[in-house]
Amino acid sequence: MPQIQRLTGFLGAQMQGTDLRALDDPDLRSALRSALAEHQLLIIRDQSLSIEDQKRLTEVFGELMQLPYVAPMHDDPSVIAVLKEAHEDSGGVFGGEWHSDFSFLDNPPAGSVLNAQEIPPVGGDTLWSSQIAAFETLPEHLKSFLDGRRAVHVGKPYGVKFAPPSEARANASIRMTRGDPEADCEVLHPAVLINPDTGARALYLNPIYTTRFDGMTEEESRPFLEQIYKHAVRPDFSVRHKWRAGDVVIWDNRMTLHYATNDYAGFRRLIYRTTFRSSPLE
Ligand code: SIN
Repeated sequence: MPQIQRLTGFLGAQMQGTDLRALDDPDLRSALRSALAEHQLLIIRDQSLSIEDQKRLTEVFGELMQLPYVAPMHDDPSVIAVLKEAHEDSGGVFGGEWHSDFSFLDNPPAGSVLNAQEIPPVGGDTLWSSQIAAFETLPEHLKSFLDGRRAVHVGKPYGVKFAPPSEARANASIRMTRGDPEADCEVLHPAVLINPDTGARALYLNPIYTTRFDGMTEEESRPFLEQIYKHAVRPDFSVRHKWRAGDVVIWDNRMTLHYATNDYAGFRRLIYRTTFRSSPLE
């Protein structure tokens, strides 16, 4: 069975002695599911999975999703090629702000899988932050403020009303649909989620998609959100992963935030991404 080594006091584990193509083994499938529930972030190196292998792996955790607004690979609607070419120096990077993937959907992804293909010689790391740790250590007045509260999420980068300026767009190799009025629909989610497997509570707010709290304006919400975000991404709660081609990373998208660094101008980076669903948020 795989050996599991924790990465920090709060979040993440590296699995060793695992071949992620051996998914016919029910013990491996169950070990993967329980390791993800316990650590929220799993790193498995030296895998070199094909797209089909990656999809089978993703389905261990839940049904494969097709996400709106970001063009998938032309021959596979469930896979997004997260690509930045060497010449794409301006215009940001996909995922270059702390977020939880597609939190503005009615039923946002439960988790995501990244499968590293081409990695720059320096830079291009990804960070994750434990929102369980963030909630546990939140000052009491903010915990009470969030108790039973819901927040509004909007597909800001893809809509009309809230869209960022075009120069803030992600790099051109990722084709994103912009200007879709449907992406401006406001969706409400609890500000604090409960992990169905472990009962752990986690903050569920992020600076890309959360605009305000239910019953409050953006202006009224901002001071609370700013304090919470500052706390939510403290280095104490985070893991920074330095990629190698062949790495596979799986994370719980509801219990963590993540951030893609944009510090590898002049180099190509290509990682395949799949996402899986579970039950809708209550
Ligand atoms: C993402 O936000 O899913 C992209 C992460 C990355 O490219 O490191």
